[in-house]
Amino acid sequence: MKGIVLAGGSGTRLGPLTVSTSKQLLPVYDKPMIYYPLSALMLAGIRQVEIITTPRDEADFRKLLGDGSQLGMKLSYVVQTAPRGIADAFILCRDFIGDSPVTLILGDNLFYGHGLSELLHQSVSGSIAGATIFSYHVNNPRRYGVVSVDKSGRATALVEKPQMPKSNLAVTGLYVYDNTVVDRVRVLSPSARNELEITDLNKLYLQDGSLRVVPLGRGVAWLDTGTAQSLLEASEFVRSLQRRQGLQIACIEEIAYRQGWIGSADLDRAAKSFESCDYGKYLDRLPRVSE
Ligand code: TTP
Repeated sequence: MKGIVLAGGSGTRLGPLTVSTSKQLLPVYDKPMIYYPLSALMLAGIRQVEIITTPRDEADFRKLLGDGSQLGMKLSYVVQTAPRGIADAFILCRDFIGDSPVTLILGDNLFYGHGLSELLHQSVSGSIAGATIFSYHVNNPRRYGVVSVDKSGRATALVEKPQMPKSNLAVTGLYVYDNTVVDRVRVLSPSARNELEITDLNKLYLQDGSLRVVPLGRGVAWLDTGTAQSLLEASEFVRSLQRRQGLQIACIEEIAYRQGWIGSADLDRAAKSFESCDYGKYLDRLPRVSE
């Protein structure tokens, strides 16, 4: 399974914060935003990840995350020259995907909650056929792609930002596809806003009965961070939980260590490089297992 983090876009809803930097590099409390979606892929067990960025921001992402070897991962970068839509990811990353299945996560989405690692792991393991999307009950579905499901939980309709939503189930920014996605995306045409829409891609799977909808329950938090309000709320969420538990959310070195992708010497190195902040102290305190 390969992974993609979509961290391009223009971030206009966050202006003027995004005039000179990428939205996905802005802080969500004490870490760059991209740590959160990247950690979701890592928890699912995905080690090979391509990051989609912009011509302006590529160097900054490379500086932040490098080639991923410090995490026992393989990270690569691809530049999207204009925000041509979320589904454009499968055109840009065609070579990277090769003949694998692929999981895409939006660079401004944060997932957190009980049982999530297990759920993610299950969803991306084994032989992948068709597509899997994750639904979440929200107060205001008009802002999102909305899915309707029948009594057995099968998807019956998908609508992008409906005026009159038929359900409260938003489609979250995490998608798992079989390898047919690289061919399916080629038949899509740009929408009225001149983007290749992920909803149109998912409809292709819906039409041939191969779209699976996995509900994320109320024990899971799904936050997106695309506006000043939601960015602050996400920061507050992370700060509250971390202060209460003394456990970090989306500490990528910790996750890599727990996955067995890096050893304690790597953890020590990371702890040292951040020694003057809580993040480094946390890494330093993490219990080491004997190797
Ligand atoms: P959006 O929030 O829909 O778009 P945006 O980030 O450009 O923000 P705004 O609406 O404020 O202008 O994008 C969701 C995620 O997908 C976000 O992490 C950026 C990313 N993205 C791309 O990388 N390329 C694209 O072409 C688009 C549309 C989004």
